[in-house]
Amino acid sequence: MERLQKVIANSGYCSRRKAEDEILKGNVQVNGKIIKEMGYKVSANDIIIVNGIKLEKSDNVYILLNKPRGVITSVCDDKNRKTVVDLIETDKRVYPVGRLDYDTTGALLLTNDGELTNLLTHPKNHIPKVYIAKVEGIITGREIHELENGIIIDNKKTIPARIKLRKIDKKKNVSLVEMTIYEGRNHQVKKMFLKVGFPVLKLKREKIAFLNVKSLKSGEYRYLNPKEVKQLYSLTK
Ligand code: URA
Repeated sequence: MERLQKVIANSGYCSRRKAEDEILKGNVQVNGKIIKEMGYKVSANDIIIVNGIKLEKSDNVYILLNKPRGVITSVCDDKNRKTVVDLIETDKRVYPVGRLDYDTTGALLLTNDGELTNLLTHPKNHIPKVYIAKVEGIITGREIHELENGIIIDNKKTIPARIKLRKIDKKKNVSLVEMTIYEGRNHQVKKMFLKVGFPVLKLKREKIAFLNVKSLKSGEYRYLNPKEVKQLYSLTK
């Protein structure tokens, strides 16, 4: 049994706050009865109608997390470290789509939809991922060119990346670089920068395709709405 406002929000119909508004306004029916009680518990068999629209019964959930540093991207960890799944309050068995390193922050999708996971992580689909890297050293046009054209890491050339130099700080000897990659190899961004001589000091994934985490504080997450899920699927067609 779960709270009505949570079930509505998890369906992707609207945010939890909006769901609470709809309940208070008397716009929500459960099994044909208007429910205005906040926290009313519903089960998977209950029929929920919001503003005349019946909630679709899909078991799939899609979550966008702003991953904090110091959390492992895995369902469980043999060293008992905190995992990204520990940050999500759900009774669904969600798992991360792809990986972010322990010390990398930012956009991470979690779902229980295996089909979408496979599509988004398949290299042929070239889903863009935007990273902001703080690197040691002052990066120049030469290295940017190399990174953009593709370099050999783990015996294989990377497919062309897009680079934008956001800032350089000569005093601190650091550069802030935006890198968009279209594949998702292990530690790819750190390895690429290291290959051209610039160790990554800090890494954040700002965006996966059209999804960014600007509205989410570190550790916060939100459910994707059906339109966003459809849009993700259409990127892989
Ligand atoms: N590339 C990396 O090196 N680390 C990440 O966490 C993600 C991409």
